[in-house]
Amino acid sequence: MKVGLLTGGGDCPGLNAVIRAVTKCAIKQYGYEVIGICDGYEGLLGNISTTPLTYDSVAGLLFRGGTILGTSNKGDPTAFKSIVNGKVIVKDCTEEFAANCRKLGLNALITVGGDGTQTVAWKLSRKIPDITFIGIPKTIDNDLASTDQTFGFDTALLVATEAVDRIQTTAESHHRVMIVETMGRYAGWIALSAGLAGGADIILIPEIPFTIKGIVAAILYRQNVQKRRFTIIVVAEGAKEAGGDLVVSKTVPDSPDPIRLGGIGEYLAQKISDELPYHEIRVTVLGHVQRGGTPTSFDRILATRFGTEAVHAYARGERSIMVSLRGNEIITVPLSEVGGKTRYVDPNGPLVRTARDTGVNFGNLE
Ligand code: F6P
Repeated sequence: MKVGLLTGGGDCPGLNAVIRAVTKCAIKQYGYEVIGICDGYEGLLGNISTTPLTYDSVAGLLFRGGTILGTSNKGDPTAFKSIVNGKVIVKDCTEEFAANCRKLGLNALITVGGDGTQTVAWKLSRKIPDITFIGIPKTIDNDLASTDQTFGFDTALLVATEAVDRIQTTAESHHRVMIVETMGRYAGWIALSAGLAGGADIILIPEIPFTIKGIVAAILYRQNVQKRRFTIIVVAEGAKEAGGDLVVSKTVPDSPDPIRLGGIGEYLAQKISDELPYHEIRVTVLGHVQRGGTPTSFDRILATRFGTEAVHAYARGERSIMVSLRGNEIITVPLSEVGGKTRYVDPNGPLVRTARDTGVNFGNLE
């Protein structure tokens, strides 16, 4: 049996741990051959780009960030986008993709990725019945439906929390309003969790639209009533002013999801400064630091469990599924249930309630 393995979408800590786990389990437990596909789905379009995965080639990978296979958040074979003469051309390359899988003799394809990657895997699994598609959920955003947690999130949270901790001491020394902007796309998991862990005063997430009035009132309450001379605001890149729009930093036209968020921190700084001109405000955008570097032990273990369970699921004859964390168990869920659904923070859920109980403001008059 030959198993292909690809990593798609934005990279995240733990991808290499998955590659190692899939390879070791497939070889040791079942004697399968494992082929690494380079640069996500793109490695099976045009010139095939692969690398053999063996016990030797995955040695030392457990703690390495990034992905040795490379990744891409472009290249959906069912709707491949390219730019010709400045125009985006969309082409269905499913036949070419299937032919390349067959040329390699693949029986299964394990796709490690987030919403975009798993949505594509589901579409392909329906069009290419002779290949078994098995998904493994990853993303620092933790916004994937059908799993309690993705690997990569815990590491991003650690990085963001450490940043908030460090911002505290400089904010306190200079009596400033400090804004920390996190990633997370349209969900507030990183900002909420890092804000909670780092003791932020104000947390702004996409699920709870904020008002500038609310933020200003919270800063003044902290200053005048609580007699604290600094304020820490953690804002998710997808947070929005009530009735306002997302702040977009750029668009990538040939990407399946062309919007890249970013800039809400600076937007806020300007708006708060208009209301409180004598307050010193500084913005720190954490950006891709949250995605890089070595995974936490939690992410290494989760990635390893996902990787081995994906191989076992294939060996059991399961198809078109994604491995998933439910409580402390790894289960499998149909790929059809995964794509196109975002797992949002519940604005009335336990994490938000805990934050409110400890005096965190969500950017509203309270
Ligand atoms: O999905 C992971 C993520 O890091 C998001 O949090 C962020 O919005 C996006 O990817 C950034 O994408 P890129 O790497 O293309 O800038």
